[in-house]
Amino acid sequence: MRAKKYVIGNFKGGVGKSTVAQMLGFESAYHYNLKTLIVDLDMQGNTSDVMNLTHMNYSKEDGGGENTPINFEYTIADVLMEDIPVEKAIYQVINNLDILPADMSFEEYDNWSTVNYPESIDRFKYMDEKLSPLYDKYDVIYIDVPPSISNFSKSAMYIADWAIVVLQTQVKSMRNAMQYLEYMDFFTETFESDLKVVGVIPFMLETGDSVDKEMYEQAKDIYGEHLIKNVVLKNARLKRYDGSGITTERTKKGTLKQWDRKTHELFIAIFDELKEHETWY
Ligand SMILES: Nc1ncnc2c1ncn2[C@@H]1O[C@H](COP(=O)(O)OP(=O)(O)OP(=O)(O)O)[C@@H](O)[C@H]1O
Ligand SMILES: [Mg+2]
Repeated sequence: MRAKKYVIGNFKGGVGKSTVAQMLGFESAYHYNLKTLIVDLDMQGNTSDVMNLTHMNYSKEDGGGENTPINFEYTIADVLMEDIPVEKAIYQVINNLDILPADMSFEEYDNWSTVNYPESIDRFKYMDEKLSPLYDKYDVIYIDVPPSISNFSKSAMYIADWAIVVLQTQVKSMRNAMQYLEYMDFFTETFESDLKVVGVIPFMLETGDSVDKEMYEQAKDIYGEHLIKNVVLKNARLKRYDGSGITTERTKKGTLKQWDRKTHELFIAIFDELKEHETWY
């Protein structure tokens, strides 16, 4: 087994990066039964928190905690700065889905790594080497990064095979994902990495139906075939997962309740599209 590694990118904050990492990670594990890991490289720890809440939502049979949270004794910061073996910082969310969490202590890593590895390429290689024992344990690894061009986001670019770019469609500008793609070109050339774009996922949170089609067409002109056809619209359930964790609530008959169903169907469809795009290379 050799994990496919994905970084979820956009240098802008609050565009949906973590949501994509969480949802694709969940569908990969829960729907497709792939052995899946989410690596949180954001000291805000948002994805770690959502995964912990998700863990609490599931029964022991599903690999969850039945209302008992995970105690994240070790995080990515301990792995990188305290020589804790990476396996010790891996926690099960549900069956097939694990998280390597981050918290505020990761803030120090930027300075620590610059002191210990003055050359940026050595910092990227160091993180890659520290995570490498995981690569043959998973089918899929999603890396969630903080916004902005930083040591964290660049290390993730170095480690990943594929980039999934989130596009926040806006009436004013459709180009926010372009900055990431352009930087990726520069990065792959400078550091001889072979990171490839697998798709651009449009998030349309701003307006009503009438403008949407036009915005999609504009985005299509810019991003071409990379643009994913399944659009993420404003979705109260997705917003709710941020505070409740991901759920798969069922009716008495055992089918998914409609808001969970729609949300999961959307991300399963996005997962499928991305997989299709990979075959183009
Ligand atoms: N389709 C949606 N509808 C409504 N709210 C959404 C949707 N997608 C994401 N959100 C919410 O928007 C907020 C920002 O999303 P998210 O955390 O995924 O962005 P991010 O790019 O990871 O942000 P950051 O740059 O801070 O890491 C979250 O509260 C999330 O729940
Ligand atoms: Mg985020």
